[in-house]
Amino acid sequence: MTKENQTYGVVVGLDIGTSKICAVISRLDEQGQPEVLGVANVPSRGIRKGVVVNLEQVALVTTAAIEKAELQAGLTVDSVILGISGGHIESTKSKGIIAISSHKEIDQTDVQRVIEAATTIVIPPDREIIHTLPQSYTVDDEVGIKDPIGMAGSRLEVQVNIITVAASSINNLIKSVYKAGFNTADIVLKSLATSRAVLKEEEKEEGCILVDIGSGTTNFMIYSENGIKHTGQLSIGGAHITNDISYGMKTTAHIAEQIKCDFGAAIADMVPLQAQIEILSPNGKTERVESRRLIAEIIQPRLEEILFLVNEEIEKTGLKPHLSAGIILTGGVASTEFIENLAEEIFQLPVRIGVPSKLRGLNEFINNPFYATATGLALYGLQYSQQNSPQKVVNKLGPMGSPDEDKNFQTIVSRIQGWFNEFF
Ligand SMILES: Nc1ncnc2c1ncn2[C@@H]1O[C@H](COP(=O)(O)OP(=O)(O)OP(=O)(O)O)[C@@H](O)[C@H]1O
Ligand SMILES: [Mg+2]
Repeated sequence: MTKENQTYGVVVGLDIGTSKICAVISRLDEQGQPEVLGVANVPSRGIRKGVVVNLEQVALVTTAAIEKAELQAGLTVDSVILGISGGHIESTKSKGIIAISSHKEIDQTDVQRVIEAATTIVIPPDREIIHTLPQSYTVDDEVGIKDPIGMAGSRLEVQVNIITVAASSINNLIKSVYKAGFNTADIVLKSLATSRAVLKEEEKEEGCILVDIGSGTTNFMIYSENGIKHTGQLSIGGAHITNDISYGMKTTAHIAEQIKCDFGAAIADMVPLQAQIEILSPNGKTERVESRRLIAEIIQPRLEEILFLVNEEIEKTGLKPHLSAGIILTGGVASTEFIENLAEEIFQLPVRIGVPSKLRGLNEFINNPFYATATGLALYGLQYSQQNSPQKVVNKLGPMGSPDEDKNFQTIVSRIQGWFNEFF
């Protein structure tokens, strides 16, 4: 296949995670519905706690993941919608105010102007703004307005949450993908993308918390009244659970990972006392028989720690009474048996497991919390390509390392801001 086979309107979501790199190729079908054409995941390398630590290794596995998805889709792609996460992400509140000329209804241009005013904040040179998320508007003295378009007034004010990332992290991600042979069309906060794939509109309206427990990170996002009120991340995830099992059961990380995924459980008391498992030696021979409950006894405290820390952060926001739709758990760790029960006990809210559900095709692969982020990234790309010409999505960045590198980087960052202004 040559790059000329790239199909018009095709979008690729690329989730470079701590444990796996996942690519989802999708496009809109004749009815305008999102459809998955190719899915692939390969074990990741060169990533620690969601952040690139070895560009070459990330590039290698990125090429492998995208080529695998291309084979399944039967076409080639040029550019990707890339997710970003990690402990370097910060959220800052800001406010913008503009005057509205008299006898005029507030329109889209005014909204864009006021958001731009709110985004004009001083940030350190080593950080970049990736999203500006409007929270609520004030028109003259009328506060708490969700959509001011069409209203009359002389003064428009907006409260926003500004999401910033370490400039080095975003640059290293884009460079790795470029080394892999692909351009980056956009960069999206992973929690935002994931919420797109797994949350229902009514959950966002009633108020909910999306918790994505991955391998090296746990990301969470609070929705209330259809807006994102808070985002947070912890540098802890499933890899810590594997380490605990490896240490506790005196076995290799590889075997500990298998035991965890095949026999793990979040609540020890829910595992029958008599249930036993065989722990294999690295050469595959049966080594010893252990109680399955013992594995859960190792997993439970670590999961409790993760969920307690998230709960603590949510309590601090004071928003908990407004989150009646509860917790939506996703990411690989959400597949742990009885995790809903444990989370319900800790959060004292209803809990469900979030799987991507808004795309047709390849459902047997996609319907798994593991694919939530990559699927969400593809959905964002499709929404963008619906509103703009698809050519704008591909080839947005020029060659990294070229004299235009900084300019290209700025272009992508400013366009990302514009894009999210439209949605939140
Ligand atoms: N069935 C399962 N039971 C328990 N844990 C599981 C299961 N399947 C996968 N996991 C764990 O989920 C984690 C991987 O999840 P995921 O793919 O969401 O992470 P990632 O996106 O690579 O990492 P991060 O988001 O932290 O960068 C691993 O720790 C893996 O062991
Ligand atoms: Mg992840």
